[in-house]
Amino acid sequence: MENNTEAPRKKRVLSMSQSTGMFTLGNYLGALKNHVALQDEYECFYALADLHAITVRQDPAEFRKNTRNVYAMLMAVGLDPEKCVLFIQSMVPEHAQLAWILNCYTQFGELSRMTQFKDKSARHADNINAGLFTYPCLMAADILLYNADYVPVGHDQKQHVELARDIAERFNNLYSPTFTVPEVMFGKAGARVMSLQDPTKKMSKSDENMSGTILLTDTPEEIMKKFKRAKTDSGSEIRRGEDKPGINNLIDIYSGVTGKSYEEIEREFEGKGYGDFKTAVGEAVVAELRPVQEKYAQLQKDKAYLENCWHEAAPKAEAVARRTLQKVMRKVGYLA
Ligand code: TRP
Repeated sequence: MENNTEAPRKKRVLSMSQSTGMFTLGNYLGALKNHVALQDEYECFYALADLHAITVRQDPAEFRKNTRNVYAMLMAVGLDPEKCVLFIQSMVPEHAQLAWILNCYTQFGELSRMTQFKDKSARHADNINAGLFTYPCLMAADILLYNADYVPVGHDQKQHVELARDIAERFNNLYSPTFTVPEVMFGKAGARVMSLQDPTKKMSKSDENMSGTILLTDTPEEIMKKFKRAKTDSGSEIRRGEDKPGINNLIDIYSGVTGKSYEEIEREFEGKGYGDFKTAVGEAVVAELRPVQEKYAQLQKDKAYLENCWHEAAPKAEAVARRTLQKVMRKVGYLA
């Protein structure tokens, strides 16, 4: 209508990152770069999942330091506290409160099927705690508290977002419409970044062999060295192929960083060898990360500014979370 000046509500996006260990190039290309791009178009809530972090044992001093560093890195890659709510999960108690409630609407069988649980319990066989098992309920709470329309994550989190949808639908059907049923959203880069040493395995920050992993804090020299030593396949052409996980991975990285299509890349490197290509990919990654690393160094010097950012973000997040939690509690039958 002509005189309706009210802008339609922007769709809401929520995503969280693990707060332990520094981000990898895989996190950056698979998720973070996309999170940054979404800030202008959507109402975005981003957070560090530090409640999730203690499902694996953490050294307190390390844990604290890591949370600070990773928060600074989120800002360095381009998450802007003026454009999104960039908060720390443990500073908004509603996450833990809703997670408890959702635990009671989630079946043992559903949680048993989660592949991340199976992987992590295999890797940490001495500490298969209850939190590790119910981790997806906390993640569902993270998403549903904000009535997020979209959840941009890497492919490994798809199963968790689907469980959050199931929980939301179940709750809505049992009571009345309460939660927005969220949709998973994948970044444009899409492809999973694999280890440079074993391109059949995902690039991971918890790999024993860090020469296959690029961290966002690696120096340019380290990055070049890791790319130059990247495992490639038999053959010599820069061309994607089914049995060429090494070269496919390098092409994906180059495409993710430069925005060039596979065809453009294959044309650009026609007649060139693996050595040239590895150097080019390394240089492209170094150039992409240079401004990020400069911003990171600058933020690291301004601890007060960082603290101010997360202290201002928490109440903004909580204002939204509290309303959802109250609604849920009323429906369930609590007196509060
Ligand atoms: N489980 C996610 C990961 O391992 C992190 C996460 C926690 C998350 N809560 C979330 C992601 C809510 C998206 C939405 O990366």
